[in-house]
Amino acid sequence: MSEQTRTRKLEHIEIVLKKEVEPQRTTLLEQIYLEHNSSPDLSFDDIDLSSMFLGRRIAAPVMIAGMTGGHPDTTRINGALAEIAEELNIAMGVGSQRAALEDQGLEYTFSIVREKAPSIPVVANIGGAQLVKGYGIKEVRRAISMIKADAIAIHLNPAQEVFQPEGDKNFKGLVKIVEELVDNLEVPVIIKETGTGLSGSIARMFAEIGVEYFDISGLGGTSWIMVEKYRSKDVTLSNIADLYSNWGIPTALSIIDLVYNVPSTHIIASGGIRNGLEAAKALALGAEIVAFAAPVLRRLLNEGKGSAKNYIRKIIEELKIALFLTGSNKPLKLWAHNIHFGGEIINWMYSKGIDINEYNNIRKLRLSLINKF
Ligand SMILES: Cc1cc2nc3c(=O)[nH]c(=O)nc-3n(C[C@H](O)[C@H](O)[C@H](O)COP(=O)(O)O)c2cc1C
Repeated sequence: MSEQTRTRKLEHIEIVLKKEVEPQRTTLLEQIYLEHNSSPDLSFDDIDLSSMFLGRRIAAPVMIAGMTGGHPDTTRINGALAEIAEELNIAMGVGSQRAALEDQGLEYTFSIVREKAPSIPVVANIGGAQLVKGYGIKEVRRAISMIKADAIAIHLNPAQEVFQPEGDKNFKGLVKIVEELVDNLEVPVIIKETGTGLSGSIARMFAEIGVEYFDISGLGGTSWIMVEKYRSKDVTLSNIADLYSNWGIPTALSIIDLVYNVPSTHIIASGGIRNGLEAAKALALGAEIVAFAAPVLRRLLNEGKGSAKNYIRKIIEELKIALFLTGSNKPLKLWAHNIHFGGEIINWMYSKGIDINEYNNIRKLRLSLINKF
């Protein structure tokens, strides 16, 4: 079993590097327009991107999303990502720690992250399906202590598991298990999707049992339905995966839905965010920090650490320009900035019963709810 968990890690990385794994349907961030400010009352040099995340101050509201660990070959990837994150002073997650819970001898593939990145927020990771299968507080505490994590992400990936031939297709009873974790753990629990997006009602269900952090990981970036399609040797399953390749909630819609339904929650935006302007839009919609996975990994493995680091640096610079052109001296000031929506987003809001003015009021009010200033 653990051998299978291990090799799957490498197969996933190889497919993400070599195949087209992004769906046709987009994040819909291209239908979000930030109003231009012709007379920003600030100097570019006064813009302060630094942000608080999980109790630590980081240089910008940016995170390398959880990706890997669990196979000996992934150690150098996690090590390099951690060095980049520490050097840039941004947050980082690790991939599912299941392999190291199954085989203690693999813990070093994860613990290298804390060794290389002693001062940034680091997020542990475990699958919801694994919790349902029997992992409890003991295993989760081990995952957290393995990397001295500041939080644990519980990833929800039914769309991946259902297309994974050996996938765990049972999520029954998860909410109760998460409730017990929230009540007993010393660090916050993050409910995290994996590229198919969280809805407001699912987030509200978890918020009601005490979850305060959500990584929406919406549709429009890496698609695990497509990754599993390429892994599958079952032609029928692979054809069905094609049918479902655009399944999910686009990143922009997922953020709006969460802000509307759980106004006081912390939102990490990920899934298809590829530049600093998209990051600014995700923040303006109500996210607190943005995360990206595949583009960083591709640059690291194809071009080296310098290229991956420069990519993130560029995103931060692009984000700073968006702040300047909206007259925002801090990232969360974007929450109060005027946004215009394209037709598909307006239609979707209408069909969900989300009133645009009410959403905008909630978005702007959140500054006082989260009390960041
Ligand atoms: C190679 C790879 C491995 C991943 N493994 C995990 C994982 O183990 N746990 C998890 O929660 N998310 C995992 N993800 C999902 C990412 O954290 C992220 O939510 C998703 O890829 C969307 O971001 P992107 O479009 O920027 O890639 C992985 C992503 C990649 C590219």
